[in-house]
Amino acid sequence: MEELKLMSKPRILVTRRWPTAVEAVLAERFDVTFNIDDVPLGEGELRQALADYDAVLPTVSDKLPVAVFSGEVRAKILGNFGVGFNHIDIASAKAKGVVVTNTPGVLTDCTADIAMLLLLSVARRGGEGERQLRAGDWKGWCPTHMIGTKVTGKTVGIIGFGRIGKAFAQRCHFGFGMDVVFHNRSQVDPAETARYGARQLASVEEVLAASDFVSLHCPGGAENRHLMNAARFAAMKRGAFLINTARGDVVDETALIAALQSGTIRGAGLDVYEAEPHVPEALRQMENVVLLPHLGSATEETRTAMGMKVVDNLTAFFEGREVPDRVV
Ligand code: DGY
Repeated sequence: MEELKLMSKPRILVTRRWPTAVEAVLAERFDVTFNIDDVPLGEGELRQALADYDAVLPTVSDKLPVAVFSGEVRAKILGNFGVGFNHIDIASAKAKGVVVTNTPGVLTDCTADIAMLLLLSVARRGGEGERQLRAGDWKGWCPTHMIGTKVTGKTVGIIGFGRIGKAFAQRCHFGFGMDVVFHNRSQVDPAETARYGARQLASVEEVLAASDFVSLHCPGGAENRHLMNAARFAAMKRGAFLINTARGDVVDETALIAALQSGTIRGAGLDVYEAEPHVPEALRQMENVVLLPHLGSATEETRTAMGMKVVDNLTAFFEGREVPDRVV
């Protein structure tokens, strides 16, 4: 391993426990403090961390709003463990001269896999069936038992055609013979679109009107907050399903619950929520909703790769090189 060209090691704080292999590398390269108890830090502790450390390594469970940047800031870099950064007030970081990095690329496949798992589970009533069987309530096979919705050959609509959206399109098209339509803010090269057997449509509404399954793959944060609202649920096809592996704030959860209760949409598969780890009781009561606890990137391979990306970003930063994954 390349040695850091430094007189003294930078002081860094890791806000949550990370895969063991990554923690070992961090401990070798930096003067590192680990959050041994793995209890999320509060706003005051995060503000203090910015004052005490050269680098803070947060993740999606840490909230860093404007107030966290309001005091003295010694930290020069936030090496975020994760690709999404809507939990960090990026403008404040920039104003305080704090570099922010993330971990794109390494969680593409696993997040697309979880979206597929949710789509299949909610369409084919996997969660509901397993609950029935485990409760000892299964009475045996019969032609009318737990009838779901066919997936193969249906139309899937993807909102946000970045890395994960494309990986999901690939699974839907080549794995399940689905028609793929999508909306993306910028025009995607038609040659690239064709690789996934996909068609770009001009508006979110056009995608909603055409799709049996709508899957969200856009970033969270102010620009996409409540992109799925009551009007957009009403614009979905009757009997369609929503899949969200992006960010909870992209969906107005109250409107989603109303759309599910009224039958405006048939079901939802969710990995992310507006106020994690809080999941509204109404959602937890519904059989036509599959709920996962933010598992998109939760594989050994991916979580280790995410940590190693943070290590690369920090190492580059403290060696005076450009960071590979700069957000700001
Ligand atoms: C991310 O990387 O932003 C994920 O949501 C955490 O896995």
